[in-house]
Amino acid sequence: MSKEQEWEGLKAEISTCSKCSLYKSRSRPVPGEGNLYSSVLFLGEAPGRVEDEEGRPFVGAAGKLLTKLIEEIGLRRENVFITNVVKCRPPNNREPKPEEIEACSYFTDRIISLVNPQLIMSLGNYAGYYLFELKGGVRWLGISRMRGKVYKLVVLGSPRAVIATYHPAAALYNPQLYNVLYEDFNLLRKLLDDTVSGKGLMKYVKQGGDC
Ligand code: URA
Repeated sequence: MSKEQEWEGLKAEISTCSKCSLYKSRSRPVPGEGNLYSSVLFLGEAPGRVEDEEGRPFVGAAGKLLTKLIEEIGLRRENVFITNVVKCRPPNNREPKPEEIEACSYFTDRIISLVNPQLIMSLGNYAGYYLFELKGGVRWLGISRMRGKVYKLVVLGSPRAVIATYHPAAALYNPQLYNVLYEDFNLLRKLLDDTVSGKGLMKYVKQGGDC
């Protein structure tokens, strides 16, 4: 089965999922989107109101900031992959519950394995905890202690570079955090550059495209 076929199957499964109660209040599930062959995957938290309406990740205010950061380091949104630890909007934008993240891990893990990125950037605490503590076997000490570094973790059986940063929504409330996010995105860019020039841990371009 091709990646595209697998992705269509996964999306169909997500659209009828009732593994947790979020399906009851969602308008549309938000499985994720992007280049299935990308070396870079962004893992966020949960869809918000606009994402729930459109069925697409990071298309609201925080999404505009994420897109800007992606473009500022010379990448294109359509060339990376973007998903969340929870695929359905929590009511009133409340934080996702551990049991919802756990139920959705069935899909999160299959998406990560399908895209098989060499580099993952976690956006916010929930994604950081998920990748580092639950999948990577590294104690999650909170974003301020974990950010700004590249970790080499074995995530779902493969070594991957993982960078933790703040959720872009945090910069909407605290504009000073934009500079911190910008720094972390530049670290990601540097890692990609080093990888292209052969200095990095892994091969950057897997198939066509920028990343
Ligand atoms: N915040 C997230 O974490 N994910 C989205 O898709 C949108 C906002």
